[in-house]
Amino acid sequence: MSRPRVYVCRPLLGRALDILREGCEVRVWPDPEVPPPRDVLLQEVREAEGLVTLVTDRVDETLLSAARRLRVVANVAVGYDNVDVEAATRRGVVVTNTPDVLTETTADLAWALLLAAARRVAEGDRFTRAGRWQSWGLELLLGQDVYGRTLGVVGLGRIGRAVARRALGFGMRVLYTSQSRHPEAERELGVQWRQLDDLLAEADFVSLHTPLTPQTRHLIGREQLRRMKPTAVLVNTARGPVVDEDALVQALREGWIWAAGLDVFEREPLPPDSPLLSLDNVVLTPHVGSASFATRARMSELAAENCVAVLSGRRPPNPVNPQVLDGAR
Ligand code: GLV
Repeated sequence: MSRPRVYVCRPLLGRALDILREGCEVRVWPDPEVPPPRDVLLQEVREAEGLVTLVTDRVDETLLSAARRLRVVANVAVGYDNVDVEAATRRGVVVTNTPDVLTETTADLAWALLLAAARRVAEGDRFTRAGRWQSWGLELLLGQDVYGRTLGVVGLGRIGRAVARRALGFGMRVLYTSQSRHPEAERELGVQWRQLDDLLAEADFVSLHTPLTPQTRHLIGREQLRRMKPTAVLVNTARGPVVDEDALVQALREGWIWAAGLDVFEREPLPPDSPLLSLDNVVLTPHVGSASFATRARMSELAAENCVAVLSGRRPPNPVNPQVLDGAR
């Protein structure tokens, strides 16, 4: 029997390619920095039974209709808003993601941004490098205290909880808002549920941990930013479009909020003319929430395991549309 063909949209890390090559014929887009152009992807998926994608690779109706033999899309990410899951489900294509393995690493980055924005770390670095440091100054680069303040977590899933857990070490009060209440997390972590509007008004730090869905697009807009404290810091390691970026720029410029730490943006890569680039009270990172050596290797391997499982007729560890496997579409 011929081996199933798998197209991989980027050179993967760890043992991922070995895992795929054990039972599949594997073709890999060779550039680690840039995704395959759309025409290459459309050509490659014609023969592929498995596709390993990153958040930059759009899997939509057009791609799926070109991919007549496709059985699985294994996304190397926990978020899968780059994949039209409904269209895949209709065609009987399994979609998988890589949850759990990146939870702690992403929570670490949310905290890095929170601390950097609160204590003006990136600004201090620019200031020092520019040779502008004349003397120790009582008022030099004053920031916001973190210890003992209130953190608001929007979306208490795996990453939201990991961010909340870290806050306990900083003696913080933690509020959360979520689609439903989580009594066990309230007991274990001492977190308190609030309506979004109340959380925004009470929190000194607001960290976003929702997936991007039609319901969460622009969840944080003008009205929500207006509710926040003028000393508050907003952190986004979830997805850019959860925040209305134009409104955020206005909020940062006009002092509705104090600062922001952003790893994700409405357009990625961030366009060179983005007004965010000229603001000192925002810390920017290039969508690297899960970017540690160990975690990116583990994500790659998990995506490979998901892909191979489907192609060998086994249940994959992380299906996001299990109804395809269960026969009910
Ligand atoms: C990265 O953004 C992910 O969803 O894992």
